[in-house]
Amino acid sequence: MGRLRRSYYDRFSRFYDRFVALHSSDTTGLARKFLADRLPPRDAGSILDVCTGTATLLPHLKEKVGRDGRVVGVDFSRGMLKVASAKVRSLPNVHLVEGDAGNLPFAAETFDAVTCSHAFYELKGKTREGALQEILRVLRPGGTFLMMEHDVPANPVVRALFYLRLTLVGAGRAVAFLRREEETLKGCFAKVEKVETPAGRSKVMVCWK
Ligand SMILES: C[S@@+](CC[C@H](N)C(=O)[O-])C[C@H]1O[C@@H](n2cnc3c(N)ncnc32)[C@H](O)[C@@H]1O
Repeated sequence: MGRLRRSYYDRFSRFYDRFVALHSSDTTGLARKFLADRLPPRDAGSILDVCTGTATLLPHLKEKVGRDGRVVGVDFSRGMLKVASAKVRSLPNVHLVEGDAGNLPFAAETFDAVTCSHAFYELKGKTREGALQEILRVLRPGGTFLMMEHDVPANPVVRALFYLRLTLVGAGRAVAFLRREEETLKGCFAKVEKVETPAGRSKVMVCWK
């Protein structure tokens, strides 16, 4: 099953960026910049982007850690990582790693911040629960986890389509997670805040360890 999901994302990677630009009318990565801007700038630091996809967020994260800072993007799809590598090739201290969100290949307390953009709901139920524990494990004490996701649509027809898409990508138990999202995050982190994007329809959950 993991193999099937990976191959779905490998195929999707060929048109993923065009799909996002059309779907969200965001051709310049404004939403990802909004997410990165929730992080305080540091002279040096390290940020992990979980489920980094085609690495649209990484250049924005690099701006937050300065010249000596390090940014790592992790994803399990080689197709996505191939597209990503073309984007970050010229960026110093930006690395891509193949790995599973539910079993992150990093030592405990390695990162000052962890981000996850438009991917957390798509994880399979068990992986999603594991990923939350893994994110907590690799974050330094006092570190921040930023999760950006679409809001659950208010319009009932669009909401049904939203849930249908999560079911189609095999994101088991995503709906149950969504109903208790804030409560679940508050159970794991010391403080949790929800910030709506200016354009609406998306939100960032800011969580402090
Ligand atoms: C909808 S894309 C989001 C990509 C990117 N974060 C963005 O903002 O455009 C979801 C990504 O999650 C990755 N993914 C899904 N399940 C994963 C897992 N268990 N471990 C690592 N990556 C995973 C997929 O390969 C894909 O690149």
